[in-house]
Amino acid sequence: MKFKVPRGTQDILPSESWKWQKAEQLIRETCEVYRYSEIRTPMFEQTELFQRAVGDTTDIVSKEMYTFKDRGDRSMTLRPEGTAPVVRSFVEHKMFGWVDQPVKLYYIEPMFRYERQQAGRYRQFVQFGTEAIGSADPAIDAEVIALALEVYKRAGLKDIKLVLNSLGDKESRIAHRDALVAHFTPHIDEFCSDCQNRLEKNPLRILDCKVDREHPLMKTAPSLTDYLNDESRAYFEALKELLTIAGISYELDPNLVRGLDYYNHTAFEIMSTAQGFGAITTLCGGGRYDGLSEEIGGPPAPGIGFGMSIERLLLALEAEQVPLANDDALDVYVVTLGEAAKKEGFHVLQKLRSAGIRADMDYLDRKMKAQMKSADRLQSKWVTVIGEEEVEQQIVQLKNMAEGTQQSVTVTELIELIKG
Ligand code: HAM
Repeated sequence: MKFKVPRGTQDILPSESWKWQKAEQLIRETCEVYRYSEIRTPMFEQTELFQRAVGDTTDIVSKEMYTFKDRGDRSMTLRPEGTAPVVRSFVEHKMFGWVDQPVKLYYIEPMFRYERQQAGRYRQFVQFGTEAIGSADPAIDAEVIALALEVYKRAGLKDIKLVLNSLGDKESRIAHRDALVAHFTPHIDEFCSDCQNRLEKNPLRILDCKVDREHPLMKTAPSLTDYLNDESRAYFEALKELLTIAGISYELDPNLVRGLDYYNHTAFEIMSTAQGFGAITTLCGGGRYDGLSEEIGGPPAPGIGFGMSIERLLLALEAEQVPLANDDALDVYVVTLGEAAKKEGFHVLQKLRSAGIRADMDYLDRKMKAQMKSADRLQSKWVTVIGEEEVEQQIVQLKNMAEGTQQSVTVTELIELIKG
């Protein structure tokens, strides 16, 4: 029997894992600069949390969740997204009472969606997300968008664009909903059964149906923008002005509705425009979710955030051929010749490592030439050679690989020299 990694998941091997570490590091640094603090929530939650927050009629909840009964017969779901758990935690820990408002949080955690596998779409993916909860100021929307863009900029991406829409407040959405129902009802029997279901429950979701995407009524569907009330319009204008002040350019897309139910007002996506980036070009999606806290039993707590997967960030870097800096070359490779030298080499190795120097040695009793080859492959800056003579004299031969020079030094001198 042969086992394979489950479909839609991947092993991240050492040749790739360093890129993940780099990406995570630059994300953490950016969050620090923007004063967002990390939150970690469990990998699974009560199923009902996602049903309520993300919405029963969304693809995520109706088709993509990993839901199971635990041994106590409770329905649990592997987290498909991070906003609902974070808002649950916000309510549970009464973060609305914290002195510093809004509460600004971020996470880098695996999410699970049972989706059809394709480039950039996985069943387990790692999402970096932020949530700023407790303010209804458009400036925090602008800040969150700026943070997302900053991450891509710091990573070195150039071919990206910000796409923006407003979904308006509740009143605007009800007006739009009525218009959608009037638009689709006469022809609803030409749509898939999911859409027929959505018409009653949540007609907005028809607009992101993957099956009926090409139906002519999709193009002529009433646009939310035309149904925004004065308050929603003013909010959107304020956000756009702030983005302009921050030097952030954007494209407006009145069809951007996002695939989760909790959104209102601001909705945005950041797309890759790089040639050769696969069919899925969305790198990041986010928006405002005033009302979500109440929906799951908390007090009013307006919020905004986004999610982006590390997978798609790395794919975008590849598509733009931006190399991430890899500075994990070895400092010292310890080459030993003979049994006694090997013992001494091991002693030197541990001393080097205790001093915080990246060092390694041969564990296969290979000949000197093979050991030197390993040192080369590991891009070691220095090589120490220890033979019988060196053991007797309590020294090592130290080679500087870049300069091709060699000198005899004691172990203490060796550490001083390398630490520079
Ligand atoms: P979302 O649009 O469902 O939003 O996902 C956000 C991002 O997660 C996507 O733009 C993409 O980078 C990544 N993503 C989603 N599904 C996959 C997948 N199957 N494989 C790889 N990457 C994927 C949310 O999840 C919201 N919680 C975002 C948010 C936070 N809104 C407000 N706060």
